[in-house]
Amino acid sequence: MQVNIPLRKTVDNSYDITIDAMPKMHFHKKVAIVTNPKVAGLHLGYLLSKISAKELFIITVPDGEEYKNQASVDLILESLFNHRFNRKSMLIAFGGGVIGDMTGYVASIYQRGIEFMQIPTTLLSQVDASVGGKTGMNNAYGKNLIGAFHQPNAVNIDPHFLDTLPKREFAAGVAEIVKMAVTFNKDFFEFLETADLSDKQVLQEAIKEAVKTKAGVVAKDEKEHGLRAALNYGHTFGHVVENETNYKTYLHGEAVAIGMVMANAVAVKMGLMQDEEASRVEKLLQKYNLPTTYKIEDTETFYEAFFLDKKSSDASVTFILPKGIGGVTITDELDKDLVISVLDTFGDC
Ligand code: NAD
Ligand code: GLY
Repeated sequence: MQVNIPLRKTVDNSYDITIDAMPKMHFHKKVAIVTNPKVAGLHLGYLLSKISAKELFIITVPDGEEYKNQASVDLILESLFNHRFNRKSMLIAFGGGVIGDMTGYVASIYQRGIEFMQIPTTLLSQVDASVGGKTGMNNAYGKNLIGAFHQPNAVNIDPHFLDTLPKREFAAGVAEIVKMAVTFNKDFFEFLETADLSDKQVLQEAIKEAVKTKAGVVAKDEKEHGLRAALNYGHTFGHVVENETNYKTYLHGEAVAIGMVMANAVAVKMGLMQDEEASRVEKLLQKYNLPTTYKIEDTETFYEAFFLDKKSSDASVTFILPKGIGGVTITDELDKDLVISVLDTFGDC
């Protein structure tokens, strides 16, 4: 006997992303704010003047990508158990992408999933990491290899947190904004070319446009079966740059900037992008002092390193290539000789 029981999804996990000064909020439940000592020192007082709850706890984990690991996840989990958090309790991720990804991951596994809110405090996390529900942590095998898709209940982006952000961290966020514009939003790219992001109004507009662009992609492909992979533009090359330099020389966004320039060079070689368009992207990145050159010591080694990227399945590498400005193509069928010949040009930098 064959029995078919349809199990339809009825879950609506849509949520609001607010870009404005934090409103006052009260939660009639147990809430834990997860943050790190740096962000807490700079901004926790302000947050606590805005947020209250039936019971409110602060959990701090050490600052840095190297602490985006099981030990920090365990520390957060233990605190939740000790304070008897239940399935109705909520977490607030208060920090950059490291805090956001890890808090979201804990929210996805604590008692099989509880609510969480994102309050991102770096530009990169405001325009990218806090939106779209990718959560996770690193382990000895690589970055973000453990995680879950777990959407937040809300994202509150308060640009005022960026006042204390170091310039380099700010620029790293700009790289992700440029990524969104080049791949999906030509008008936005043109806006960025003349925009002055040190003007707060203009910056808020840019954050809004980047978030709108990313949200549009996530709404179409939440679990990265296709289109969402395009948001990894610059990352296939950038990850190798990060890896080769032991994650010490470049911030992630800086490596992505180099990666976008490399992807553009491949796109130009394939006739997908005009030389002049690639130059415009480079010029925009340079406007924010982002690196656009990198000396590849050994192109074969660089090429082989693509295959260590988790986004590659067995023998293929997924390349995200711009189609002009405002378009994108995803392919795992690139000719090795073509890629090597482009990489060779970076050997001469
Ligand atoms: P980060 O979280 O390490 O923050 C960078 C530094 O800035 C840290 O030292 C942090 O404490 C500090 N900081 C945070 N807010 C500050 C403020 N307002 N003023 C001064 N200093 C402040 O790094 P990041 O660039 O925000 O995020 C990178 C992480 O995000 C990576 O782990 C990456 O994997 C992840 N990420 C996730 C997604 C996603 O979709 N989930 C997307 C992109 C990146
Ligand atoms: N940062 C890429 C993504 O969210 O899919």
